[in-house]
Amino acid sequence: MTTQLPKNIVLIGFMGSGKSTVARRLEHILHYPLIDTDGHIEAEAGMTIAEIFAAEGEAGLRQRESALLREIASSGMPRHIISTGGGIVVRPENRPLLRALGYVVWLRATEEVIHERTRHNRDRPLLYAEDPRRVIHELLTVRTPFYAESAHLTVDTEGLSSEEVAVGILESARYFFAS
Ligand code: S3P
Repeated sequence: MTTQLPKNIVLIGFMGSGKSTVARRLEHILHYPLIDTDGHIEAEAGMTIAEIFAAEGEAGLRQRESALLREIASSGMPRHIISTGGGIVVRPENRPLLRALGYVVWLRATEEVIHERTRHNRDRPLLYAEDPRRVIHELLTVRTPFYAESAHLTVDTEGLSSEEVAVGILESARYFFAS
């Protein structure tokens, strides 16, 4: 049932929006290799994201994200699923790079869902805060226009299973690449 897509599918969205789960679904359906930018950066740096934050600050992570996007873009490789860290859209240079890589899908979840999914999780340094709920709200306010600017498709994931989201993305991607 799966026709080949000419390019990559790139997932963007806030922490806890379901990118990793949906990426694995897409990988399963399409049999395209999955690149997780956080995982790739951790392997290359020999440090976890939390260790990169501690050693180099957020700026260090952002630099590494930009370098990785440039590397993927210059390799010209098609047909990968690329799941990105939630802050990858913050650097202006990354937004056109993301769009150049393929079909960019913004997964949206509500603040409540994001808070619920991230609150027991200790591997997201930006949420090591007294009031993570407020941080989520503030970061979302800043980032929402950046996600919107980067995305070809926006998916409100509320009430949908990861399978439904993945299948919806594929249908839209086929229309997109056919037109
Ligand atoms: C970040 C999101 C994280 C990770 C890092 C910073 C962000 O990735 O890159 O903790 O700035 O939103 P996930 O979106 O996969 O949690």
